[in-house]
Amino acid sequence: MKPWIQQFQASEILDSRGNPTLSVRCVLTDHSVHEAQIPSGASTGSHEAHELRDGDPSRYRGLGVLRAIQAVEGELAHAIVARQPDDQSSLDHLMIELDGTPRKSRLGGNSVLGCSMAFSRALAHRRKLPLYRSLHPDQAPTLIPVPYLNIWNGGVHAQWQGSDFQEYMIVPWGAPSFREALRWSSEIYHALQGELKKNHLPTGVGDEGGFAPPTTSNREPIDFIARAIEQSGFTPGADVAVALDLAANGFYESTRYLLRTEKKTLDSSGMVDYCAALVKDYPFLISLEDPLSESDPESWPLLTERMGSHVQVIGDDLYCTNPQLIDHGIRNRQANAVLIKPNQIGTVSETQAAVGKAVQGGWRAMLSHRSGETPDAFISDFVVACHAGQIKAGAPARGERVAKYNRLLTIEGELGREARYAGPDLIRQNSRNLYS
Ligand code: PGA
Ligand code: ZN
Repeated sequence: MKPWIQQFQASEILDSRGNPTLSVRCVLTDHSVHEAQIPSGASTGSHEAHELRDGDPSRYRGLGVLRAIQAVEGELAHAIVARQPDDQSSLDHLMIELDGTPRKSRLGGNSVLGCSMAFSRALAHRRKLPLYRSLHPDQAPTLIPVPYLNIWNGGVHAQWQGSDFQEYMIVPWGAPSFREALRWSSEIYHALQGELKKNHLPTGVGDEGGFAPPTTSNREPIDFIARAIEQSGFTPGADVAVALDLAANGFYESTRYLLRTEKKTLDSSGMVDYCAALVKDYPFLISLEDPLSESDPESWPLLTERMGSHVQVIGDDLYCTNPQLIDHGIRNRQANAVLIKPNQIGTVSETQAAVGKAVQGGWRAMLSHRSGETPDAFISDFVVACHAGQIKAGAPARGERVAKYNRLLTIEGELGREARYAGPDLIRQNSRNLYS
């Protein structure tokens, strides 16, 4: 076969938090260049792929990625150029074997994912397909996801100055199209800003572009958001639902959940009761992510059972996009959905396998950005290709967040009449069809 991959190049760029991250370019023999930029999390799970950083305190407070650049341009590039893989799983397997560690700690999850994503784009170019078609070439993409827009930031994304819970999201699932869903969300975001001003609260934003004012209760943000939804002319629940990412790892300390804003300390069953009361009091609350810590796995099945089938219980830190951990979770009925972040596992094909594992087990999947982001919108193409029907990418504001939503607008436009916006019923049904 004629060689088609010429080289891989990498460089150190900045992410949305102003920390260094990796950009990888796959250069083809036709001289085209295909780039990927790698995001970075702040509230990470313990089983995530290893992010290779320099640890040299004289540069970027130890966060530099010069070693990751070396890994890409040295070992990884040499092996890939020598082998000339022509599909995604051959490339990813080659890199996994070359690294040889369970969490990609030798060459770095960031280096490996950079090559994997840049290669995906190169492959799409070679196939003369848009990325969202090339990622699943035998399945016509039609399902445009419901966005979960994080408009109130707390926890570590707001330096623990506000709510204990990390993310309060609006879910415009009653909209007729993605374009309208985004308009509704922008109007609600600005209505919330107005409400905060009226109440003399600061309107500065957290890491994901949502407002991050101080609060004395983790329920107060829900009340504010419900008012903003109504003021914008929509009905909480039917038009626009609400979802939370509690990111409970962040406030779990030696078997107790510490809700600092409410001056409460709860044990596991207390935390389960707390969540049950929340969804009872707020019927428009449809989805809870990481309501419990990854260090408290025995309590997850109890909580999921209490929530019932109408509330989505999403595992993020508990599964880290790892197909084996997801499989274990499904067998133990720990949750009913999983968050999918490519950089938690480190290759495109393992990310696809994670979605496949979830859907085959009757779970939903939601694609996700990280709190440290770049303008790269790979996840937007990915979510359309895999029919997951749900994506979270932060507020409808800030360049690195809207890049994902704007890419979905473009895809919806390109699909034209083929495009179907994933309302509440479509999400499960369509993702099942793809993997059964
Ligand atoms: P992270 O946050 O990117 O900081 O991990 C996102 C999440 O917890 O879902
Ligand atoms: Zn999360």
